Amino acid sequence: MTMSPWISALSDIFLLVVGLVVLLIIIVYVRDVTQTKDAVLRNYPVIGHFRYIFSTLGEFFRQYFFAMDREEMPFNRAERQWIERASKDKSTTIAFGSTRSLDPVGTLIFENAAFPLLDEQHQSPAAVTFGDGYCKHPYVTNAIINISAMSFGAISKPAVIALSKGAREAGCWINTGEGGLSPYHLEGGADVVFQFGTAKYGIRDADGKLDDAKLRNVTDHDQVKMVEIKLSQGAKPGKGGILPATKVTKEIAEIRGIPMGQSSISPNRHLDVGNVDDLLMMIKHVREVSGKPVGIKAVIGGMGWLHECFTEINRRGMEWAPDFITIDSGDGGTGAAPMTLMDHVGLPIKESLPLVINSLIQYGLRERIKVVTSGKLVNPAGVAWALCTGADTVQSARGFMFALGCIQSLRCDKNTCPTGITTHDKRLQRGLNPADKAVKVANYVNQITHAVEIISHSCGVAEPRKLQRKHVRLMQSNGRSVRLSELYPEPDT
Ligand SMILES: Cc1cc2nc3c(=O)[nH]c(=O)nc-3n(C[C@H](O)[C@H](O)[C@H](O)COP(=O)(O)O)c2cc1C
Repeated sequence: MTMSPWISALSDIFLLVVGLVVLLIIIVYVRDVTQTKDAVLRNYPVIGHFRYIFSTLGEFFRQYFFAMDREEMPFNRAERQWIERASKDKSTTIAFGSTRSLDPVGTLIFENAAFPLLDEQHQSPAAVTFGDGYCKHPYVTNAIINISAMSFGAISKPAVIALSKGAREAGCWINTGEGGLSPYHLEGGADVVFQFGTAKYGIRDADGKLDDAKLRNVTDHDQVKMVEIKLSQGAKPGKGGILPATKVTKEIAEIRGIPMGQSSISPNRHLDVGNVDDLLMMIKHVREVSGKPVGIKAVIGGMGWLHECFTEINRRGMEWAPDFITIDSGDGGTGAAPMTLMDHVGLPIKESLPLVINSLIQYGLRERIKVVTSGKLVNPAGVAWALCTGADTVQSARGFMFALGCIQSLRCDKNTCPTGITTHDKRLQRGLNPADKAVKVANYVNQITHAVEIISHSCGVAEPRKLQRKHVRLMQSNGRSVRLSELYPEPDT
């Protein structure tokens, strides 16, 4: 019986492929055993490569197959799914029982009132005013959650547009991050907090110094309500912003005022701010130029500089004070930062927020200086805890990234973000439709606000800004929870 020409051709191809595979294995084998840099490959030639393949793939597949609901970092599945459902305006009700263990140290437990308020006694979050009496244009907001700094550059054009439209829809602010004010921040019509960092992107002169005319130009926009001077960020205290060269497009370079295609690295601190005196001068100057409330953003290490700052404000007068302080957490997010700084430097807000607020009370500055905070406050309990502690309002970056569809693939610095949020690759951006995502952003704000209201009502207060430290307890290592008001008592005034 003769073989058909097709079968004969297929078997030739098969033999060729097998031959090539065997040849490849031999080449890899010889290369592995003769190289001296990698012990695993030298001892286990060829199969040693599977270790590297699996550990790379594991990063992506873990969240689907192996990780439990409450296990992953930086955000676990339960946290992400809450945001996903909230942003789709789906019910966040669950059945049977919580998958959250209340045992781990630091678990938040709110103190429910024996006689919670009736629906008709509920109120919307009260308004908070920034810069009241100290600048030409004070800013009033009711929002308890806002969009934290993420620069145009770190995130994409469609992401910024979606955030700005969503913020407008929900009535919260969008913070520009340190990459300058882009047309996309303004596109949605939302309130904008203009941030500048140590490189003063968008408002710098040729030498990188603050250019008052450019600052005025930016802050003259009606939508720009406040200015935030970034001293440091939780994920990289002591290190300036990093935008890898692959993400510095022509447009981003123009907005920032830097060369295109080169990594954009900000100085580690403001060149003109080396002490408390310089800082207070800068705050006052920026407020005079802009006429808007001016605040500072920092992650807290030691408290010494704040004591010095507050003492000096009391000596000079209240017009020297920042209108707000944003306290970022040591475990905050970023587009790119050294792991050492992310993992080990800067206090988490669980510790720093009560310390800063107590210090403001001690120095009689609590009313004058508003407090904004950020750091993994992406679910209602976190926001409610911050309000209990004494924050005036909260910001989140990664919560809003999840609302935009982020899948925590941890590729923000690679320009290959699969959801189009942190990439300038047009093909990948196609997946992010600003109109659809704006609705999700607004839903997320509304749902989180509603859920914090539910916590407040359960604690027996009419609205979130009435929450106090006595309303939340933190689980301790002995299995007993302790009220926040006992752990961090507010000082007597
Ligand atoms: C992609 C990305 C970009 C960021 N860019 C800035 C920035 O330009 N300026 C800044 O002060 N913080 C920046 N941050 C930090 C956030 O504003 C925020 O302080 C921090 O992530 C903590 O909030 P979160 O835990 O809700 O994300 C960025 C964070 C992310 C994830």
